[in-house]
Amino acid sequence: MALDRNTVPNDLSAFWMPFTANRQFKETPRMFVAAEGMHYTTADGRQVLDGTAGLWCCNAGHKRPKIVEAIQKQAAELDYAPAFQMGHPKAFELASAVRDMAPEPFEHVFYTNSGSESVETALKIAIAYQRAIGQGTRTRLIGRERGYHGVNFGGISVGGIVNNRKFFGSLLTGVDHLPHTHLKENAFTRGQPEHGANLADELERIVALHGPETIAAVIVEPMAGSTGVLLPPKGYLERLREITKKHGILLIFDEVITGFGRLGSSFAAEHFGVMPDMITCAKGLTNGVIPMGAVLATSQIHDAFMQGPEHMIELFHGYTYSGNPIACAAGLATLETYKEEGLFQRAADLAPYWEDALHSLKDHPHVIDVRNMGLIGAVELDPIAGDPTKRAFQAFLDCYDKGCLIRTTGDIIAMSPPLIIEKAHIDQLIGTLGDVLKTLH
Ligand SMILES: Cc1ncc(COP(=O)(O)O)c(C=O)c1O
Repeated sequence: MALDRNTVPNDLSAFWMPFTANRQFKETPRMFVAAEGMHYTTADGRQVLDGTAGLWCCNAGHKRPKIVEAIQKQAAELDYAPAFQMGHPKAFELASAVRDMAPEPFEHVFYTNSGSESVETALKIAIAYQRAIGQGTRTRLIGRERGYHGVNFGGISVGGIVNNRKFFGSLLTGVDHLPHTHLKENAFTRGQPEHGANLADELERIVALHGPETIAAVIVEPMAGSTGVLLPPKGYLERLREITKKHGILLIFDEVITGFGRLGSSFAAEHFGVMPDMITCAKGLTNGVIPMGAVLATSQIHDAFMQGPEHMIELFHGYTYSGNPIACAAGLATLETYKEEGLFQRAADLAPYWEDALHSLKDHPHVIDVRNMGLIGAVELDPIAGDPTKRAFQAFLDCYDKGCLIRTTGDIIAMSPPLIIEKAHIDQLIGTLGDVLKTLH
């Protein structure tokens, strides 16, 4: 496809790019100018297979007609409505649709604009809930090493990715961390690993240290994505649920990646059969097309706030764009697309093929682990001595040159394609990565 090169700017200096090696990028830019289905189009007219659903968010693939039309129509009809003390129909319709798609206990939906905001919102609701039920001493938050909960102060405080924390001062006080669950003996496991359920018992140690009456909530990703796809050991989430319940501590699942079909179910809570008290989501809620996130809460949590004089605001929290009409229209069209095309089931059906393809890389050079679940997978590489991250980043660049988009975190290659992926695309993606691995130093 011939593209108008004039649409690509010459001056790249003003845009300070997020989570990007800015100087490297601006030296050799990688620009997408269009997308459709499973592919991006680059500024130089190449097709690149999307192996990452954008940033784990375009679960229905790109430029889906229903979503495009819904956004266009909504922009022409009601562009914006105040989010506080006013409503518009689609905000209520989408909340009902999310509730209907989510596992049973999640009856209420609070809108945000991103995963990071969903996390802040859930942490604040947790502390305020404890206060509302007369447990005001419960203010501590427990996260987990290697956890990723976005980039705001609450999220990086409970998060456990060192580089996301160490540059930003002292963070929130009153936070503790569970150990991560990434164990060497689980290498090359297909699906949930055998070893490590006992790591949940560390919560008992933390509870004993601080006293249960000081702890408001535990937040974990049921499957840790951004840190490099770490799966919960068998029995681990169940144990966390048991311990939190026993001590009156809320459990929050951060499902910003796992929400909306990634594991072959609507949410990971359903997939693992473990129900937390709140779920955070974003990304797949609008297929990544318009920024939007949400916190799903049980009636127990929601109803605890519904007291006092009826003219009073119950929760002093919200965003100018909470439930933005265009985001709601995109969300409704997205959920309809997932349902009409049976995309969550499709992910579940394709998972065994995906698993086999990924594990075919086991004996390739530099590979020290392969992990997978649903339509998500990771290939971990042995780092170059003294130069961590470089080998995987080179793999990313080489795959891009060969027409495939993958993602890297440290020396881990992560893939999470749109759920519309075909077997031939899986062959191309994994085949390309395999070829690249053979040429890496
Ligand atoms: C589990 C989890 N929580 C929160 C976030 C942050 O989302 P956002 O980048 O939309 O703020 C992410 C993003 O990848 C995530 O994976």
